[in-house]
Amino acid sequence: MILVTGGAGFIGANFVLDWLANSDEPVLNLDLLSYAGNLENLASLQGDKRHIFLQGDIGDFDLVSRLLAKHQPRAVINFAAESHVDRSIYGPEEFIQTNIVGTFRMLESVRAYWNNLESNAKPEFRLLHVSTDEVYGSLGKGDTAFSETHRYEPNSPYSASKAASDHLVRAYHHTYGLPVLTTNCSNNYGPFHFPEKLIPLIIVNALADKPLPVYGDGLQIRDWLYVKDHCSAIRCVLAKGRPGETYNIGGWNEKANIEIVHIVCSLLDELRPRADGKPYKDQISYVTDRPGHDRRYAIDAGKIEQELGWKPAETFETGIRKTVTWYLDNQPWVANVLSGAYRDWVARNYESRV
Ligand code: NAD
Ligand code: TYD
Repeated sequence: MILVTGGAGFIGANFVLDWLANSDEPVLNLDLLSYAGNLENLASLQGDKRHIFLQGDIGDFDLVSRLLAKHQPRAVINFAAESHVDRSIYGPEEFIQTNIVGTFRMLESVRAYWNNLESNAKPEFRLLHVSTDEVYGSLGKGDTAFSETHRYEPNSPYSASKAASDHLVRAYHHTYGLPVLTTNCSNNYGPFHFPEKLIPLIIVNALADKPLPVYGDGLQIRDWLYVKDHCSAIRCVLAKGRPGETYNIGGWNEKANIEIVHIVCSLLDELRPRADGKPYKDQISYVTDRPGHDRRYAIDAGKIEQELGWKPAETFETGIRKTVTWYLDNQPWVANVLSGAYRDWVARNYESRV
């Protein structure tokens, strides 16, 4: 059994689905179901006894301790977080609460559990903390990509809160010997991505005949990885990573935001042309820039590739085509997110139990 936190969100849900497609080892999924948690992402697992869902907070020490004692997982994978930079700018409090205080409390529960494990289970246990490349700050045009030794220079409340959680995880290894692994991944895209983030927002707005907002000059660069490649990297680090180490994850796929928007528009022109025959790029609208907007992220994935033998399966071209096609094929999922109906999914379909 593994415990996954935040497994109803974008990457966590993809991870749970992927895990159970590759293994019969059960997953205990603990998720608070904040606005970003959507159990519809896991609808295909209904009735599957290998998946146990529980609504709860990683910062609830008693709850997490009880769960650990009851289910005795061999690993904890922590996806739970507030994850949207724009939200962190307008309301940082929840980021501090979940990403810093929540991670700290979870570490305390996990440390107590790990301390009491039998001597044969103790060295096998792992806590894998899922983090972001944004902790490294912003790169200039000619700078080399982020390696694991790049200094932390977070610029947004989101990235600062993730950086703080990474430091706590690191400290629990150095101080208490907790066998932790940390992964720092670049921007993900793919199925079940909440349409507040760039790629799903562009797809959803384009189809709804709404403006496609591009911040500032649109020349900010992100390094994009298909979400299922992130999931396979996490499985690889969990299986082969060395405790106490951090691994950067990325697909060597830097693109400017405006280029991303043009690619998505062209795919939609091909797959679902506008009724008036005009190109979707006509809907692009340049808007005021994000405060403190990081200019460029780029991941050097050499360590995970060379030490652990991981490689992404998708190129950006194959991954983005799959993504746009998924959104076109899953319009009811989009409609439920936009209307807020996805939040009733628990009452309609699941019974939370502790
Ligand atoms: P998301 O916002 O889609 O999902 C986060 C999930 O965590 C949601 O299901 C939410 O309900 C849950 N959650 C929030 N607070 C919680 C709490 N206190 N206790 C339990 N559950 C809680 O985020 P995501 O994009 O899936 O990101 C998952 C993780 O990966 C985050 O830690 C994020 O920092 C990291 N990450 C994301 C990206 C990306 O591009 N999205 C890239 C690198 C790293
Ligand atoms: P986002 O998906 O929010 O991820 P992050 O900020 O974590 O990288 O944004 C990706 C990039 O796209 C970022 O440079 C901000 C930009 N952006 C827009 O230009 N317009 C938008 O509407 C959004 C949501 C983001």
